[in-house]
Amino acid sequence: ATGLITLDDGYANTGSCRSAITFIDGERGILRYRGVPIEDLAARSSFIETAELLIFGQLPDDEERAEFRSLLTENSWLHRDMRKHFDAFPKNAHPMSILSAMISALQSHDLPEHHFTDAMGFREAAANLIAKTRTIAAASYKSHIGQPIVYPRYDLPYAENFLHMMFTQPYRDYETTPEVAHALNMFLVLHADHEQNCSTSTVRMVASGGANMYASVSAGVNALWGPLHGGANMAVIEMLEQIRDGSLSAQQYIDRVKDKKSGAKLMGFGHRVYRNFDPRATILKSAADSMLDSMHITDPLLDIAREVEQAALADDYFASRRLYPNVDFYSGIILRAIGIPMDMFTVMFAIGRTPGWIAQWKEVTDNPGQRIYRPRQVYVGEPQREWKAREDR
Ligand code: SDX
Repeated sequence: ATGLITLDDGYANTGSCRSAITFIDGERGILRYRGVPIEDLAARSSFIETAELLIFGQLPDDEERAEFRSLLTENSWLHRDMRKHFDAFPKNAHPMSILSAMISALQSHDLPEHHFTDAMGFREAAANLIAKTRTIAAASYKSHIGQPIVYPRYDLPYAENFLHMMFTQPYRDYETTPEVAHALNMFLVLHADHEQNCSTSTVRMVASGGANMYASVSAGVNALWGPLHGGANMAVIEMLEQIRDGSLSAQQYIDRVKDKKSGAKLMGFGHRVYRNFDPRATILKSAADSMLDSMHITDPLLDIAREVEQAALADDYFASRRLYPNVDFYSGIILRAIGIPMDMFTVMFAIGRTPGWIAQWKEVTDNPGQRIYRPRQVYVGEPQREWKAREDR
């Protein structure tokens, strides 16, 4: 209706954009961060190395890695006034609402007088946000269960430090196992960025107006919260529990999904871009298998997930709509095995996605030709009409 608009015109009017950060080929199930295949990163890269790759465009050398780690360490603790916010949230506050509010508040506490480029520089601001997102998540959990907030340790890598802050008890230290640390690190790597999805587009939209990084990422957290987006990892577990508790067979649930009147969706299936397997789902499925085996955990929900996947992949309803498992189908199984409470599953996704949001925010902010996003619409409302007081009509 509006005629062909070129990408450049469309850039500001539709939110479509040029980006050098993440490449997805939905037909072939390809995902690369700055050109590096996700399979390589999941197998060999730490989350922080992956974060540096996404944000700064290259995997770090030893000096850069050491410097960024010390920035993370120096910025991993919350300003004492930030901690008062936890007492103000009601005990049943959803962790995603706490996370988005606290990230927005971070700007005021950490950089009250400056826009960060003056005060601490982008590199430290990025480390600050990545470090503190993790600390806020763990602190909100401790506040929620009525335990003292646990300080980060300065000798632990990122994933291990998070587990320490989450699970160290007032009466017992927590030592993670290599399997758990590896599984969490890989989970975070797989969630670090994913091109122009709902929440990342939100971050770019807010950034295009010139908003600071913290405000933009806080908006991304809220967009991710939706059950069709980042909230799907929780919804998958709820779906598997519903099948288990209802003593349903996988096929019975599949048949319910196929009956449109039920309104039921196969959570963790389908994707706007992947018209084949989401490569992250493939990696997470084998990681769930090996992690539970190595930890000698048997999770009936994993067995149900496998049966549901098998039944769905054999059913033309899903094949004809090109619906395959996405990143959320198996991720919840891993988070359960680690011991993450279910209402924090989407927070875990947000912790993983923070480097991607930072990289995308920077790409918009650094673009000299950047114009404010202003998507267009097709108007379908009332034609022009006279104003009449209601009683005259
Ligand atoms: C993420 O974009 C990203 O990159 C997101 C993400 C990232 O890393 O940021 O990958 C993370 O959000 C993954 C998606 C997590 N969400 C879910 O798992 C929720 C369940 N999935 C669906 O809601 C859906 O598949 C979406 C939202 C993921 C995609 O929706 P689309 O592309 O708008 O597809 P659609 O709703 O137009 O569906 C097309 C058809 C419809 O049937 P018909 O009208 O043609 O008969 O497929 C059906 C839909 O009813 N369909 C499903 C289904 N997903 C689509 N039917 C049953 N179960 C499903 N899950």
